[in-house]
Amino acid sequence: MISISSKNLQNANLVFGDIASDKSLSHRSVIFAFLCDGECKVDNFLIAEDTLASFAIAKKLGAQITTLSHQGHFSIQTPVTLNSNLTLECKNSGTSIRLFAGLLAGKKGVYKFTGDESLSKRPMQRIIIPLSLMGARFDGNFAPFKLYGNAQLNGIEYLSPIASAQVKSAFILSALQARGESFFKEPFLSRDHTERFLSFLDAPLSYKEEGLCISPLKRRLKSYSITIPNDPSSVIFFIVAVLISKNVSATFKNVLLNPTRIYALEILKKMGAKLSYKVSQSTFEEIGEVNVSSSSLFGVNIDQKIAWLIDEIPVLCIAMACAKGVSKISNAEELRYKESDRIASVVSNLNQLGIEATELEDGIIIKGGEFVCGEVSSFGDHRIAMSFALAGIKVPMILHGEECVNVSFPNFFDILDQFINKE
Ligand code: S3P
Repeated sequence: MISISSKNLQNANLVFGDIASDKSLSHRSVIFAFLCDGECKVDNFLIAEDTLASFAIAKKLGAQITTLSHQGHFSIQTPVTLNSNLTLECKNSGTSIRLFAGLLAGKKGVYKFTGDESLSKRPMQRIIIPLSLMGARFDGNFAPFKLYGNAQLNGIEYLSPIASAQVKSAFILSALQARGESFFKEPFLSRDHTERFLSFLDAPLSYKEEGLCISPLKRRLKSYSITIPNDPSSVIFFIVAVLISKNVSATFKNVLLNPTRIYALEILKKMGAKLSYKVSQSTFEEIGEVNVSSSSLFGVNIDQKIAWLIDEIPVLCIAMACAKGVSKISNAEELRYKESDRIASVVSNLNQLGIEATELEDGIIIKGGEFVCGEVSSFGDHRIAMSFALAGIKVPMILHGEECVNVSFPNFFDILDQFINKE
């Protein structure tokens, strides 16, 4: 439990350097080494519970990994034949469980995947269906489940019913190991880091009819050296912190600006945020700077491109609670399948803090207003904890279960200290 009150920060001009490395790229920087020949080097890896779960799994599978430095540097080299008959502990991490299942579906071996209470409730059928169609076998639809890998997978055509980068990435990882061509199409483009990263390594991926063609890997991919930029889904907490403060401006440097990850910035601009961003560097991912200053916000409706907002909706709800007028989020049922049921978590916490919010089957209606003192819960969900800690900038409040920020952003409260007092 943590008690938060505002420092009433005003007239400040803040500069944020490296605050939290990108979680999606950090996971991929470990997992894709299993497709590569030679030593891969990673800098600025996110040192947080989620990504350390992938790191530990890679070691258990037999990867040779140097000690992870405080700056997030390590080198990784993977064997052709992996250790098998293992239990792989994925903790809270949907990315670890789904992407490693995709990788290991094409290996000869039996793997038991386990996770914490939250991960054990999250749907795994979304990967089990396509990977089984390719020839892998599963025992169980939720974690813990067993995967019986198959070194002779068959390529398939698959139309995914959901826009999910985890599903797409699991599919690509197994399709690369299959015999014959595969085709994958999703209802809307989900974050595209896997396609970008693997294409950069010359993996046989191409696009057709708004879908993805994946050919079997003929040889291992070339090794890489990657520096991970800041995570836009973490930086957004401090962008909103600045927006709802008085007369504060801030610059965020070295932020990942992949278009599938920064739609929340466009939503904030629609709400009246004084905000701009500029790409300054581009290899296989765009990276640049975000500038923002405190703004009067207005309500907004969101019903499209939800996959591009899925991690940011909880913090956008804080901006909506501070905005003038009513906001509505719809077509967002997927929020119910995250680290918590984010529709229920957000509505319950907003109501606790005196904001009128209504649960819809597929979204939330929020009437902007003034927060009142109250107690909220993280519901064990890192993004709910960090979003609601921001309410402390406006009103004294108590947050229960704040330790889950360690899943993606262990230094979150150290940075928030610029805006709040905590006990
Ligand atoms: C992620 C994909 C998204 C996102 C998660 C990370 C990834 O999940 O919410 O935080 O790294 O591929 P879904 O694929 O379930 O939408």
